[in-house]
Amino acid sequence: MSRVFITGSSDGLGLMAGQLLAAEGHSVTLHARNDSRAGDTRAALPQADGVLVGDLSSLAGMRQVAEQANAAGPYDAVIHNAGIGYREPRRIGTEDGLAHVFEVNVLAPYLLTALIERPGRLVYLSSGMHRGGNASLDDPQWERRRWDGAQAYSDSKLFDTVLAFAVARRWPDVLSNAVEPGWVPTRMGGPGAPDDMSLAPVTQAWLAVSSDPAATVSGGYFYHQQPRTTHPAARDAVFQDALLGYCTRLSGTELPR
Ligand SMILES: NC(=O)c1ccc[n+]([C@@H]2O[C@H](COP(=O)([O-])OP(=O)(O)OC[C@H]3O[C@@H](n4cnc5c(N)ncnc54)[C@H](OP(=O)(O)O)[C@@H]3O)[C@@H](O)[C@H]2O)c1
Repeated sequence: MSRVFITGSSDGLGLMAGQLLAAEGHSVTLHARNDSRAGDTRAALPQADGVLVGDLSSLAGMRQVAEQANAAGPYDAVIHNAGIGYREPRRIGTEDGLAHVFEVNVLAPYLLTALIERPGRLVYLSSGMHRGGNASLDDPQWERRRWDGAQAYSDSKLFDTVLAFAVARRWPDVLSNAVEPGWVPTRMGGPGAPDDMSLAPVTQAWLAVSSDPAATVSGGYFYHQQPRTTHPAARDAVFQDALLGYCTRLSGTELPR
C-alpha cells in the first residue's frame, strides 16, 4: 500500500487517478481549491484519507497546501495534476502579478515540489501540446506578447516536462516522470476530445505506485504506459536550470539540493 497525494483532484483526471488508486487499496489524499470544492471531493471519493485545501493560483495558497501536506504526510508519491487549460480568452493576472496559466500549471508544481517533504516518486501531468511549446523564458508572463491561450498552455506543459526532468537530474533518489494522458473529454478536454477516457488516468497512477520495472524509472515521459518522445528542450540541462532559477526567483524558494 502506498500513500499518494494528488493535486487538483476535485474533478477530471486527478479524481479518476484517485479512484483507481483507492480501488487498488492505496491511501489517497486529494486536494481542492476551497472548502466548497473540498466537500464535493469528499463526496466523490469517500474512501480518500483526506482532502487538502488551497488555491494554487497564489503563492500563499500553494504554501497552505504544502503545510497541510507536510502535516498529513509524508507521501510515497505526489501526482502534480492540477491545471488549467488553453481556453482563457485573455491574459488573466493573479494576485502575485503572474499569468494565471503559468502560476497554476508551472509555479505551483515547482513550489509544492520544493516545499513538500521529498516523496519516493513524483509525477507531473504534461500534454501532447507541450511539443508546440516555446523553449524560452523571454516573456513567460505574457506581459509583452499578444495573448494566445493555446500557446500559453503549450508553453506551460513544456515547462512541466522540463521540471519533471530537472527534478529527476537533481534528485537521483526520487523517481520523477512526466505523463501525457491523451486528449480526453474532461471539463478541460471538452466533449469532442477523441482519446480513451478509461486509459487517461492509468499511467500517472501506475508511475506513482507500481513495482513494474517499466514504471520504476526516472526522467521518463509516458503516454499510455509507453515512453514517448518529448520536445528536445526538455532534456537540455541549461534550460532546466534556467527554469528552476526563474521559479526560485518568483517564489523566493529554491529547490532543495
Ligand atoms: N483533459 C485532457 O485532454 C488533458 C490532456 C493533456 C493533459 N491534461 C492535463 O491533465 C491535468 C488534469 O486535467 P483535467 O482534464 O482533469 O482538467 P479538469 O477536469 O479541468 O480538472 C482540473 C483540476 O485542477 C483543479 N484546479 C484548477 N485550478 C486550480 C487552482 N487554482 N487551485 C486548485 N485546484 C485547481 C480543478 O479544480 P476545480 O474543479 O475546482 O476547478 C480540477 O480539480 C492537467 O494538468 C492537464 O493539463 C489533460
